[in-house]
Amino acid sequence: MPLWTGRFKKTLDKKTNDFNSSIPFDCRMAEQDIRGSVAHATMLGKQGIIDKGESEKIVASLKEIAAEIESGELPIDMTAEDIHTFVEGELTRRIGDSGKRLHTARSRNDQVALDLRLYLLDESEKLEKSITDLVRVIVNKAKENYDAVMPGYTHLQRAQPITFGHHLMAYASMLMRDLDRLSDCKKRMAVSPLGSGALAGTTYPLDREYVAGLLGLSGVSDNSLDGVSDRDYVLELLSTLSIVMVHLSRFAEEIIMWCSWEFKFIELDDAFSTGSSIMPQKKNPDIAELVRGKSGRVFGDLMTLLTAMKGIPLAYNKDMQEDKEAVFDAVDTVLMCVDTFAPMLETARVLKENMRNAAAKGFINATDCADYLVYKGLPFRDAYKATGELVALCIDKGLTLETLPIAEYKKVCDIFDTDVYEAIDLDNCVKKRTVKGGPSPECVLREIEAMEKKLDERK
Ligand code: ARG
Repeated sequence: MPLWTGRFKKTLDKKTNDFNSSIPFDCRMAEQDIRGSVAHATMLGKQGIIDKGESEKIVASLKEIAAEIESGELPIDMTAEDIHTFVEGELTRRIGDSGKRLHTARSRNDQVALDLRLYLLDESEKLEKSITDLVRVIVNKAKENYDAVMPGYTHLQRAQPITFGHHLMAYASMLMRDLDRLSDCKKRMAVSPLGSGALAGTTYPLDREYVAGLLGLSGVSDNSLDGVSDRDYVLELLSTLSIVMVHLSRFAEEIIMWCSWEFKFIELDDAFSTGSSIMPQKKNPDIAELVRGKSGRVFGDLMTLLTAMKGIPLAYNKDMQEDKEAVFDAVDTVLMCVDTFAPMLETARVLKENMRNAAAKGFINATDCADYLVYKGLPFRDAYKATGELVALCIDKGLTLETLPIAEYKKVCDIFDTDVYEAIDLDNCVKKRTVKGGPSPECVLREIEAMEKKLDERK
């Protein structure tokens, strides 16, 4: 039975009931709904708005209901309108009139806003843990490969030499910012809207701060209209999760490339790759591809809610019920992606030799060759031009800068001497890039150390 039967002479049409109902998806907030009701009932008793004994009875019964739902003893009735209706109905079935007093000074509008905040706070913690675990996997992988020379790319063209450790740590930085964004979202999420009522507050002498305190929230909303109709905390979380998926998707794309025969920089463990039904030789990076593909779902979830929210007048409108499926899907998707990505990366075999060989081709030490001339006094533009000529010469002769004879160097620019070979040596080129944030093995170790410190501080 819905909560709003008094005014109506007919029950809701069956299909319409299904259309209107949110219990198939909001049932996952049962624990948070009950936790919120326990705090509300406790406050009602403390303020003398309902009898203390009745408040205690409500709290005890709510706790029983929570335990029974948790154990599976009490199945959730999927014909109820929503989880709030179901819990209140069950409470009243158990303790009669006392149960009917729970909803005093409350509306489902402030109730659902609270439940979703509590639920998403819990999920945010899971997300933080999963993302932190992934960052740790990345950091460990970077440690194992802090001096593995590889080509760095721009425009997917070999550009300058870097280390694999450095490349990996770029993703650690991105995910660390995601963690910071999550922490920031949580601040605005941890606000209690209870007391906003349906839209216009209530006439009862509530102690809103007390309820917030019981729930571990940091404060209460300032405006009752905003309290019930604010979904910024959902949008902020969805935006953050969309950015997480941008990062994972880029990483996935690189893993897919690195697994190809064209690169062969890494090999995924059999437990994280799949085969082809027709081509016996295939070992496919399906998991990385799925992560890349699933990013679209999460962006779609963000669009769903942005669109749902943009045109609705204050305060609550039923459109807002659409927030849940969108954000639940985004949270589930991100958790699944992160939790699969971490072991896939952890078990991947890094083929350092292949990375190094790729770095030895493509003239990725050309900038270092130009820098060599600059250190000897030539203006950078002239050095750049001379090196460009040398590269063209090498391509003509089928040589590399390492194998081009010194006589040829001197023909282009007489400043060159035999120490140029040391200056353009791949290892030296990487080692010299010691500017803070640079790819030299020494810098990568410092970057790793700083990241580990940040991870420890987050605990
Ligand atoms: N299921 C609803 C939602 O998720 C709960 C709030 C219902 N409020 C209302 N006035 N109909 O938004």
